[in-house]
Amino acid sequence: GVTRHYKFDIRLKNVTRLCQTKTIVTVNGKFPGPRVVAREGDRVVVKVINHVSNNVSFHWHGIRQIQSGWADGPAYITQCPIQTGQSYVYNFTITGQRGTLWWHAHISWMRATLYGPLIIYPKHNTSYPFAKPHKEVPIIFGEWWNANTEAVINQSLVTGAGPNVSDSYTINGLPGPLYDCSAKDTFKLKVKPGKTYMLRIINAALNDDLFFSIANHSMTVVEADAVYVKPFETDIILIAPGQTTNVLLKTHPNPQQTTFLMAARPYFTGQGTFDNSTITGILMYDNLSASISSSSNTSIKNLPIPTLPPINSTSFVANFSNKFRSLANTQFPANVPQKVDKQFFFTVGLGSNPCPKNQTCQGPNNSSKFSASVNNVSMILPTTALLQSYFFKKSNGVYTSNFPSVPLVPFNYTGTPPNNTHVSNGTKVVVLPFNTSVELVMQDTSILGAESHPLHLHGYNFYVVGQGFGNFDPKKDPANYNLVDPVERNTIGVPSGGWVAIHFLADNPGVWFMHCHFEVHLSWGLRMAWLVLDGELPNQKLPPPPADLPKC
Ligand code: C2O
Repeated sequence: GVTRHYKFDIRLKNVTRLCQTKTIVTVNGKFPGPRVVAREGDRVVVKVINHVSNNVSFHWHGIRQIQSGWADGPAYITQCPIQTGQSYVYNFTITGQRGTLWWHAHISWMRATLYGPLIIYPKHNTSYPFAKPHKEVPIIFGEWWNANTEAVINQSLVTGAGPNVSDSYTINGLPGPLYDCSAKDTFKLKVKPGKTYMLRIINAALNDDLFFSIANHSMTVVEADAVYVKPFETDIILIAPGQTTNVLLKTHPNPQQTTFLMAARPYFTGQGTFDNSTITGILMYDNLSASISSSSNTSIKNLPIPTLPPINSTSFVANFSNKFRSLANTQFPANVPQKVDKQFFFTVGLGSNPCPKNQTCQGPNNSSKFSASVNNVSMILPTTALLQSYFFKKSNGVYTSNFPSVPLVPFNYTGTPPNNTHVSNGTKVVVLPFNTSVELVMQDTSILGAESHPLHLHGYNFYVVGQGFGNFDPKKDPANYNLVDPVERNTIGVPSGGWVAIHFLADNPGVWFMHCHFEVHLSWGLRMAWLVLDGELPNQKLPPPPADLPKC
């Protein structure tokens, strides 16, 4: 591989959306941020220089960071934030991965404007397991607030109420023609007839799973979270925050019109405030005969919006997620750990607001505020980084190694929300010896109305060996695990009122964050960390940190 150098200058920039101009934090003045492009085996070196008053840190979402845990990026987990005037060089090698990933800021809600695609091409002389597409196009969903997003989350943390919902969704930073004065801010994908395009779809939205569809066109899913999958055709995809999905789009050889709408809209099962608006972009055939162009050049607002499932369509979602399978062939084997060394059962869910009498509900901020937790523990971020504390043996007072392997309060979900809002708080990790084969079942508690949670694990891909609704049954459910061709990914939706089982091999030493990728749940404490110890061999150890690692 070669070394690819990037420079991220963190600067303010005035950006106008929805008729309002606001000052946002950007990478190199770009919104969305620049593409980082590399090839499997390359080293990527990104120098971040912080010229703004906010603290920043950057995460390379889905990169395994094998023996480069210092470059993973979540603030207070693997590094202290990069403060005003400081710089930090992220330096990592892309090993055994190719596909679509993305990068984003990993501190507070800074990722609302600091995000971009991270595209990894296969090694030279290696091809895709499908015909080379005519063109590849990143499609990155986001959310836009007219208000300052740091103020939005800080207000929520102070008042204990849910944060204000975003003012629009965006496709490649653009809200599209259905929002006020946004017609000029519409993503247009220009295509030629009879060709195959690969869309590299990324959900960088903060708080919503999204359905996506293109009118009169179907898609073939070929990759999820930078791992090839057995191809399947679909009219609609669902994508959770953090996830990436590559699809092949075949354009019509003789289209009868030039312009089609593409649309995305949230999947949401809970109650409460949410944005149920639809975002649209345009698929536009180029170079068609003038007659078609002029006749179909009507108002975009009159074009039919592609059909999307109802906002709470859990059945579509379950069906869709069951279609993902690893290729599991000789070229791309599925190395599913078959034997398990350690089993964990985690409840994931929201706490309560206000805290009911006779219960403790200590979120990260205040006992009376809204909280979210894993196994009834709402994680408090330390004031120094976990990885540094571990490496320099200064963990005393920073974290404890007693994260519970089962919920603190026994969990039973019978369809009616269980009375299980007990939450404690703390900074606890699970310690795993090197090469531990882990089975983790995550059960959605649905205490405050059903809600799915996209759980993201740093530093690893995992295999999704099982999922289901209701209570996980340790006697029956494991018999149905798929240990042959389960999908391999880094972010999985724990279904609303259901569970998901994953397997991973802890072969990467370091401290690895795991959290809900809904930014609001992350802020409320739905997060924990795994500490994976060094192995015996020199190439199984975490090297010392780079000299410029920021200090708290
Ligand atoms: Cu994409 Cu910890 O995040």
